Amino acid sequence: MSDKRYLTFALGKGRLASKTLELFEQIGITCEEMKDKSSRKLIFVNEELKLRFFLAKGPDVPTYVEYGAADIGVVGRDTIMEENRNVYEVLDLGFGKCRMCVCGPHSAQELLQHHERIRVASKYPNIAREYFYNKKHQTVDIIKLNGSVELGPLVELSDVIVDIVETGSTLRENGLEVLEEICPLSARMIVNPVSMQMETERIKQLLHQLREKLAQQEA
Ligand code: PRP
Repeated sequence: MSDKRYLTFALGKGRLASKTLELFEQIGITCEEMKDKSSRKLIFVNEELKLRFFLAKGPDVPTYVEYGAADIGVVGRDTIMEENRNVYEVLDLGFGKCRMCVCGPHSAQELLQHHERIRVASKYPNIAREYFYNKKHQTVDIIKLNGSVELGPLVELSDVIVDIVETGSTLRENGLEVLEEICPLSARMIVNPVSMQMETERIKQLLHQLREKLAQQEA
């Protein structure tokens, strides 16, 4: 047991990390250190199980995992798609469910039908580009924003936006609607390809336990 190396997890900060740790607790993986909210520590260790955890900004999680700084990561599918890193996506954790959509005022619907050159604002320029260029074959101008993307059509920066829709209330409160759905999203577990080979048994066992727990929850 003692010669095991640490298995390192990078968790997307915020609700995703809390939900992940809740799920891990249910399969007996705990990290007491992480529960101390006043702590400024960045890396938390479970000595007994030889596990290490750290929290990172969502878009950085696939980076840590690709470079092997973390063996395993938990992050939203939106981030995985946008960052397009060399990692294996191994498990849908089922929480953080939402949708990636093209949204705008009702009047913009028509602009999506006729391959018009429109302006698309998004925090996810790669997802927007992939969708419009490769799927719809529509040439568009993509404008990268960093948040409150719904402002785009309201202040006439863009015709439409590509953004996450969860409850739909941000859209409703701003007179916007879903015009097209790009894909469903949820939290995913990703693994470094080399770690997958070197630590196959430990990772497979973890995945097996998580799958069983998730299936129980669904039942
Ligand atoms: C996200 C997303 C939408 C909103 C959707 O933004 O970009 O704006 O949540 O949620 P809803 O459908 O439940 O209203 P977030 O709150 O992460 O902040 P941001 O706008 O700064 O990105």
